[in-house]
Amino acid sequence: MKIEGCVALVTGSNRGIGLGFVKVLLERGARKVYATARDPSSLPDVVALDPSRISGFALDIDDEAQRNSVAEQTDDTSLLINNAGISGSENEDERRFLRASSLENARQVMETDCFSPIEMCRLYLPDMIKRGEGGVINILSIGAIFCLPSHASYCAAKGAQAIMTMGLRADLDGTGVDIAGVYTGGVRTRMSARDTPMLLTPEEHAREVFDAFEAGERHIFAGAGAPEMRDTILADPGAFEQRQIERFRNPEKAWD
Ligand SMILES: NC(=O)c1ccc[n+]([C@@H]2O[C@H](COP(=O)([O-])OP(=O)(O)OC[C@H]3O[C@@H](n4cnc5c(N)ncnc54)[C@H](OP(=O)(O)O)[C@@H]3O)[C@@H](O)[C@H]2O)c1
Repeated sequence: MKIEGCVALVTGSNRGIGLGFVKVLLERGARKVYATARDPSSLPDVVALDPSRISGFALDIDDEAQRNSVAEQTDDTSLLINNAGISGSENEDERRFLRASSLENARQVMETDCFSPIEMCRLYLPDMIKRGEGGVINILSIGAIFCLPSHASYCAAKGAQAIMTMGLRADLDGTGVDIAGVYTGGVRTRMSARDTPMLLTPEEHAREVFDAFEAGERHIFAGAGAPEMRDTILADPGAFEQRQIERFRNPEKAWD
C-alpha cells in the first residue's frame, strides 16, 4: 500500500521511533495522522507539528477501555503502526527467567510488547477487511530472532509477536490487507540509550520501513545492523547464541 494519502495511527508517538514515524508520515503525504500516547500532556507538542493533519489521543495500549474508545473514534484508520513497547525491568536479573524473583516482569513485557499490539490488530483489521484495503506495521526487534541474555523476556515477547504477526498474515490472505513485522536494529532513542553514530535516527528508520513496506516486503529488517545480524544468525544460530551467552557471562553471578 501507499503511505501517501493514508490515514495512520501510531502508538507511542510522543517520542523515539514513534515520533519519527509521525514526522515521516507527514513528509510522505499521509492524509491524517492519529498520534497516540499514554501521557496526554505529551500530545500537544506532537499535534503542533501539523495541526491540520494530526489529532492526538490518550492511549495506554494495555488499557482495554482506552483501546476500544480510541478505535471507535479512529475507525477510518488505513495504516496501523504498533510501535509502543517496553524493554522491561531496570533490574537485569528480573529481565531473565531463572534469576528473576518471579515472572511478573516477563508477564508485563509480554502484555505490552505482544498481546496489546495484537489486540490493536484485532480492533482495526475487521474494518480494513470490510474496505478491502489497509495495512499494519508491527515494530518488533531484531531481538525477535535471537535471545539477548540481558533482555531475555523482551526477546521472548518480541519473538511471540513476530509469530502472531505471521498468524495474522495467514488470516488476512486474500483480503487485500497487508501486515508487516519490522525486525528493528539500532535506532537512537531513550530505549537504545547508546549514543553511537552507528545508530539510525528515528526518521531514517521510518523512511527505511516505509520504503520496504511500499515495495511489498513483509519481514522488514530496518535500523543499524539489522540485515547483517539476520544473516549472521541464520548462517549459524548455535554459534551466534553461544557468543551471546559468553558476552553476558557474569562470573560474580555464578550459581555456586
Ligand atoms: N531503539 C531501538 O534501537 C529499538 C530496537 C529494536 C526495537 N525497538 C522497538 O521500537 C519501539 C519504540 O521504541 P523506542 O526505541 O522508540 O523506545 P522509547 O524511546 O523508549 O519509546 C517507547 C514508546 O513506547 C511508549 N509506550 C510504552 N508502553 C506503552 C503503553 N503501555 N501504552 C502506550 N505507549 C507505551 C512510550 O511511552 P511513554 O513516553 O509514556 O513511556 C514511548 O512513546 C518499541 O516497540 C521497541 O521495542 C527499538
